[in-house]
Amino acid sequence: MEKRAVTMDKLVALCKARGIIFPGSEIYGGMGNTWDYGPVGVEIKNNIKRAWWKRFVQESENSYGVDAAILMNSRVWEASGHTTSFSDPKMDCKECKSRHRADTLIEAHSKGKVNPDTMSNAEMEAYIQEHRVNCPICGKFNWTNIRTFNLMFETSRGVTDENQNKIYLRPETAQGEFVNFLNVQRTTRAKVPFGIAQIGKAFRNEITPGNFIFRTIEFEQMEHQWFCKEGTDAEFYTEYKKRAMQFLLDLGFKQERLRFHDHDKLAHYAKAACDIQYDYPMGWSELNGIHNRTDYDLSRHQEYSGKTMTYVDPMNGERYIPYVIEYSIGADRLMLAVLAEAYDEETLENGEVRNVMHFHPAIAAYKAAVLPLQKNLAPQAKELYARLQKVFSVTYDEAGSIGKRYRRQDEIGTPYCLTVDFQTADDGTVTVRDRDSMEQIRLNAEQVIAYLVEKTAF
Ligand code: GAP
Repeated sequence: MEKRAVTMDKLVALCKARGIIFPGSEIYGGMGNTWDYGPVGVEIKNNIKRAWWKRFVQESENSYGVDAAILMNSRVWEASGHTTSFSDPKMDCKECKSRHRADTLIEAHSKGKVNPDTMSNAEMEAYIQEHRVNCPICGKFNWTNIRTFNLMFETSRGVTDENQNKIYLRPETAQGEFVNFLNVQRTTRAKVPFGIAQIGKAFRNEITPGNFIFRTIEFEQMEHQWFCKEGTDAEFYTEYKKRAMQFLLDLGFKQERLRFHDHDKLAHYAKAACDIQYDYPMGWSELNGIHNRTDYDLSRHQEYSGKTMTYVDPMNGERYIPYVIEYSIGADRLMLAVLAEAYDEETLENGEVRNVMHFHPAIAAYKAAVLPLQKNLAPQAKELYARLQKVFSVTYDEAGSIGKRYRRQDEIGTPYCLTVDFQTADDGTVTVRDRDSMEQIRLNAEQVIAYLVEKTAF
């Protein structure tokens, strides 16, 4: 495989310099592992979410969207099991006071040969003792015992201090889809199998956040629950694995940088589970998950809420609680993969190096940049810009040499540059420069919209 130019440091620097992603609360010295999307980044992320929604809701037969509240009744998290078991095994270094996940320490020490997912806390402590796994920060060996640490952020509601109730920021969007299962089914008259999708924020008090936007404490998830009858679940699980992979390939990912990772240790309710991993700048890591969750979620909500979650088949009156195939992907984690996949440093014939982001045109922040060759051509260029703005997100730049302006657009991955020049006044054509090949054609300005619609579709 060819050597990639991308590193995490280069991505972070490019994102900051070009308005893609800034450190959160930067003027106050930052706030660990929070990030703010800038003018270019918010467009890219919105395009990622739009492409996902188009594929898994708009173009998916029998799939429906919801946008549920972030703050949910606390009983939801009892039913889902999050209040009791959504935790990581943490250890503190008594020397430098840094905090670590015991499973991550073991994985790193054994270079991935030992799978801590299958170990109890006592077994993990024994491994760390026996192999003298030192603190990766200070190099010393002086650990606390493992303590489990719930990852949910707590807050409270109520107008007076005496009347406060503990509530949680949702750690996943999935429960908003489960609790609305019958609301959606009844209002759409959907027949099983059908899907419910949601995109929204989730929050986790991660012990070891990091790697830029890979693992953060606040992030967005894009989740799709497919409700199906027991017996058809294995087939749909396989289908969702294929669909999840195809979505990534269609976004322009190279197959050799994606792989399935089947889980050895399954949650007690799961029948099958896998991730798709991506070869990030820091190595192979989870990009998304696909889980066969059986009828666990709906059964638990039926038990905890006292309300039926049973589906009645209109054809034969059969009553059952459907199984769920869940496909879940982080929008920010996909953004990081998209950035890493797109990054390139190309050496040109004249020896210069151009930085270029080869985004799928549908994902690029701007579909085109309108550039007057000289400032006195600005009125015509602005007219074209105004026309395009009604249809796409586009940008305009008249500062600096045309070569520099092309480079600026390459760096943020704008797929087409439209240059208004002296010929434009004569024959109404503009040059259209392709980001990847750098080839130029001339098109009548009237044809540009149709051309861009076709070239930037997902
Ligand atoms: N409802 C299932 C669920 O939440 P998960 O594997 O915990 O499963 C699903 O999360 C996806 O959400 C992950 O594959 C990842 O893309 C994203 N994700 C999870 N935790 C994250 C974090 N702390 N920061 C960014 N993305 C995260």
